[in-house]
Amino acid sequence: MTILVTGGAGFIGSHTVVQLVKAGHAVVVFDNLCNGTAEALRRIERLTGKSVPLVEGDVRDRTALDALFRSYQVTAVIHFAGLKAVGESVRQPLAYYDNNVNGTLVLCQAMQAAGVRKLVFSSSATVYGSDAPVPYVETLPRGRTSNPYGTSKAMVEQLLTDLQVAEPGWSVVLLRYFNPIGAHPSGVIGEDPRGLPNNLMPFISQVAVGRLPELAIFGDDYPTDDGTCVRDYLHVLDLADGHVQALGQLVAPGLHIYNLGTGLGVSVLDMVRSFERVTGRSIPYRVAPRRDGDLAAFWADATKAQRELGWQASRGLDEMIADTWRWQSQNPQGYQD
Ligand code: NAD
Ligand code: WQD
Repeated sequence: MTILVTGGAGFIGSHTVVQLVKAGHAVVVFDNLCNGTAEALRRIERLTGKSVPLVEGDVRDRTALDALFRSYQVTAVIHFAGLKAVGESVRQPLAYYDNNVNGTLVLCQAMQAAGVRKLVFSSSATVYGSDAPVPYVETLPRGRTSNPYGTSKAMVEQLLTDLQVAEPGWSVVLLRYFNPIGAHPSGVIGEDPRGLPNNLMPFISQVAVGRLPELAIFGDDYPTDDGTCVRDYLHVLDLADGHVQALGQLVAPGLHIYNLGTGLGVSVLDMVRSFERVTGRSIPYRVAPRRDGDLAAFWADATKAQRELGWQASRGLDEMIADTWRWQSQNPQGYQD
């Protein structure tokens, strides 16, 4: 009775592994380490007292997956493995469709051959597209995506939907994440982007720790209260708990879709000011032009997850910031420290 976590050496995967182990699950991680690190798994052992096996491999490698399914009695798969940088996806669409779409296809073929038909997939609020009304609710159709990353998530949602219709014995949960931030409260694991961070929170925390000189705020002329973009930030441990709770939905066949967010909108300036207040650090910033493809404001309607999974984000913004800062200040260079 083992949960296979693909991409378990990455940011969200590593936090989910901790919560799975805490909930009593046996876990095996499968990751090619292109954006994750074995050090995260060593630190998880320190945190949980349990050693979690890491099988190094690529989800596009059918032979490696077949060998894994022969070695472990896998009951369900949580599939995080994939590429996630929006700008890079515009420059390298083939890499994104290959990793994210083909990777999921090969994984599903290997699962089918092994008789494992329970899957939780990392989707994204981005599948609602650019014209959806806020808050986003699961009954909305998928919208027009504006970059290959978002399109790859929408394509995988469709692939899994078609599979579940054709083979009704499958149990599939599509989790649409909003903006995960934060870190484990121990400060032992956290987000460790390679190169210049694309996302707001790691950028701010690297400015705070002195790795970067200042934050560029992408636009202050949006139609929001303070002119900066509004997002629904949620604590990565709440997101991890959402996966543990989603496993309960895999008991019966079917396909379920859930938003995982707080339902609260926070602007970029709110985030900078809250970070300064919580950490006592100043965050120098300048206002820069808008970033291509950014939407002014969106947040989740997360009532379905509450109703059906009993899941609700419980950690507030100050806790997300304090935990991010504990991780970043204790590990200024991330896992290299
Ligand atoms: P991450 O890059 O930290 O983790 C992804 C992990 O997958 C990494 O450890 C990487 O080495 C591994 N990986 C990538 N391609 C692989 C492949 N072909 N075979 C095996 N392993 C591979 O990213 P994350 O933030 O933890 O995101 C996890 C998942 O959640 C991704 O699918 C991402 O698209 C999705 N998601 C993330 C966010 C976010 O804001 N972080 C939001 C919505 C959805
Ligand atoms: C948040 C806000 C920026 C950096 C992206 C993906 C989405 C999902 C999560 C995952 C925006 C502003 C940012 C900076 C800034 N992906 N910002 N200066 O764009 O909501 O979502 O990550 O896998 O699919 O699109 O998150 O953290 O990049 O940006 O002003 O240096 O912060 O303009 O308004 P986003 P983000």
